[in-house]
Amino acid sequence: MMRWAAFLILTALPAAAQEFTTLKGHGGPVMGIAVSPQGQVATASFDNSAALWTGNSPKWLEAHGAAVTALGFTPAGLITGGDDFAVYLWRAEGPELLGRHKGKVTSVAVSPDGAFAATGSWDGSVRLWPLAGGRPLELSSPGAGVNDLAYGGGALFAATTDGELLRYDPVHPQEPPLPLVKHGFGINQVEAGKGWLAYGAVDGGTRVIDMDSGAQIADFSLDRRPVLSLTHHTETGQLAVGDGHGYIMVLDTAEWQIARDFQATRQGPVWALAFSEDGLMIWAGGLDDVAYGWPIALLDSFDPAMDADRSFLRNSKTMPNGERQFMRKCSICHGLTDAPSRKAGPSLHGVFGRRAGTLPGYRYSPALDGSKIVWNDNTIDALFAEGPDHYIPGSKMPMQVIASSADRADLIEFLKRATEGGSQ
Ligand code: HEC
Repeated sequence: MMRWAAFLILTALPAAAQEFTTLKGHGGPVMGIAVSPQGQVATASFDNSAALWTGNSPKWLEAHGAAVTALGFTPAGLITGGDDFAVYLWRAEGPELLGRHKGKVTSVAVSPDGAFAATGSWDGSVRLWPLAGGRPLELSSPGAGVNDLAYGGGALFAATTDGELLRYDPVHPQEPPLPLVKHGFGINQVEAGKGWLAYGAVDGGTRVIDMDSGAQIADFSLDRRPVLSLTHHTETGQLAVGDGHGYIMVLDTAEWQIARDFQATRQGPVWALAFSEDGLMIWAGGLDDVAYGWPIALLDSFDPAMDADRSFLRNSKTMPNGERQFMRKCSICHGLTDAPSRKAGPSLHGVFGRRAGTLPGYRYSPALDGSKIVWNDNTIDALFAEGPDHYIPGSKMPMQVIASSADRADLIEFLKRATEGGSQ
């Protein structure tokens, strides 16, 4: 058992806080949120301060000379890192300056045994601070700016501005880290679960890989770039992704499917995300100087577009293959009814027999606007046999190929039924 400083225990949120909550008081955007094992919320802000919240009242933590961007709870107290390159430990008696990097501090990760806090910086350095006191351990640099750090499976993982995901050897952390992924675009966020790593990137890439081999487990990449925040809750198996467009997507890590997807802010970004200690709420921060607490059970009712798509919440194993193909590969961007929707792609309602690029009110790319293609069994089949990038070069629809002709046939059969008829 870890021992947690008394001031953290005393100030836990009441258990009944299953209501939509706003934590107000910061004078700038909220860049980071952390929740202690007892449920206390801490926020980090552009206003150079961090806050520890008791219910709706903040205790301000003032010491940084610039924006506070990273934070994490440890048994010794809260650790914060900022744009002033400094790392502070907030004990009950006050702040202690642990040290400074040579660039902005982007990340704080706490080792599972609570013995170390790891911090990463844009200067390409990674340090382990022993929480019992003593000099920090400087790890081998990943060779690029560090955007995020995560502990998992005993190891420490680093995500870099160069688009790499690297693994530090748990026994020899000072040896050069092993590259697991080369993404091509900067990786902003990494989260570690049981045997898996999830990462989110500048280009909207959101992928889950095997922690040891690097093999891909799932791909949730969307046209909503960049991915800015990732968080997960082990007991409830939820992984949440926040992006530059203000959306929060909640994934089910047992089935690797999307459980909820909603627009949390009218204008992006979602810079900070953290689950409550029981996993029943999600805390989010962004431009508007407040932290929002959303009860997850209420989430789908926040997005009208979700109403047409409750089947997101159904068990995919019991669905016919064509519907499952649609739910997994298309439904995140396309509705099936003529109900208004805020999805990224045009509704596919009435798509069979429709000329491409002609749904009124939808802003198509020039590739589809004025296209001569008419959508039918053959053209939709070709679209995913070749992939949109080949079939309609320049289209906004992301690259994806459905390799199996049987899957394409099932998908088309499902789409034919689901997109015809009047409004639902
Ligand atoms: C990440 C989002 C995304 C996913 C996933 C996606 N699409 Fe699209 N789709 C779009 C966008 C955006 C457009 C509009 C493209 C443009 O304007 O260039 C589009 C256009 C289309 C069109 C042309 C519609 C029209 O009115 O001309 C069809 C058909 C289509 N998608 C089918 C599908 C199917 C079937 C799937 C699943 C296999 C799928 N899409 C997956 C985003 C997506």
